[in-house]
Amino acid sequence: MKTEILPADDPSTLRRAATALREGEPVALPTETVYGLAANALDARACARIFEAKERPLTDPLIVHLPGLEWLERVAVANATAIRLAGIFWPGPLTLVLPRRPIIPDIVTAGQETVAVRLSAHPVFRQIALNTGTPLAAPSANRFGRISPTTAEHVRAELDGRIGLIVDGGPCTHGIESTIVLVADDGLRILRPGPISAEELAAIAPLHVAETAGVVVPGSLKSHYAPRTSLDIESNPEPHSGDGLLAWRPVTADGFAAVEVLSATGDPREVAANLYAAMRRLDAAGLRRIVALPGPESGLGAAIMERLRKAAARG
Ligand code: TXA
Ligand code: MG
Repeated sequence: MKTEILPADDPSTLRRAATALREGEPVALPTETVYGLAANALDARACARIFEAKERPLTDPLIVHLPGLEWLERVAVANATAIRLAGIFWPGPLTLVLPRRPIIPDIVTAGQETVAVRLSAHPVFRQIALNTGTPLAAPSANRFGRISPTTAEHVRAELDGRIGLIVDGGPCTHGIESTIVLVADDGLRILRPGPISAEELAAIAPLHVAETAGVVVPGSLKSHYAPRTSLDIESNPEPHSGDGLLAWRPVTADGFAAVEVLSATGDPREVAANLYAAMRRLDAAGLRRIVALPGPESGLGAAIMERLRKAAARG
């Protein structure tokens, strides 16, 4: 299959994407977090093609992206806390895990009784979801276990020949995946840290430590978001020949074969936005290993550190 990248600022691209989605084809779309591989969430066969293209195990459920807030109660059972969170953080990088409605096919939830839902803030994604007229199931548009794409070219590097269309909306603003929160009657549990921080969520409802028994949890695999080159997190690294360095802010980096500085000021938002592209460049540089310097563990820093730990985990 030939994979085309078409610009989002051409109205015919948006029409083609919606037509392809209605016909049951998966299409890669930009979101404000990372690029997603979208398909009609109400069409089990269309969703099966996502799993096939990504080589994703069927035990790993998909996030359902709503065309509008009115879809929330059609796909999920939303309690008062869920409605409050949606009112505050949607559209935006927050995914809510809620009891599902029967309209959602089993393949999307991996047979679980919950469904993950979000409303993307990306204007291109929103327009295409509206034109398609159905919720869109969309995991990150990478092959399973690999680094999420934050540009259309990253998607091509992951899925070339496996999908027909990539809509190019430029680089993603947040650069890391949405925060996933399990919403229950007694409060919230973060299943994946992300751009909406634990601090922000705790201000809305009681926040508990997630106990993960019995649910499929995002990145329940220790290793995820992984470059092919091995990655270590070290505060005072001793460079060996062929080592690359991944730094949050400018540092002296004598002895490193390649250096990626994620932000001139160490601003976590900029670090997150540049993280995956920098990991891809280091991965392509033929290095012996990548050394990542750690950063702060609060706010967005917690989500960035989680991604680095997953990238560093072997096996
Ligand atoms: O920012 C994002 O969330 C991006 C963009 C495209 O929206 N999507 C994304 O999807 O990161 P994905 O599939 O790469 O990661 C979603 C994670 C998966 O690890 C999956 O296990 C988890 O969400 N998940 C989905 N449904 C779930 C559910 N019902 N309960 C618990 N975890 C769930
Ligand atoms: Mg993913």
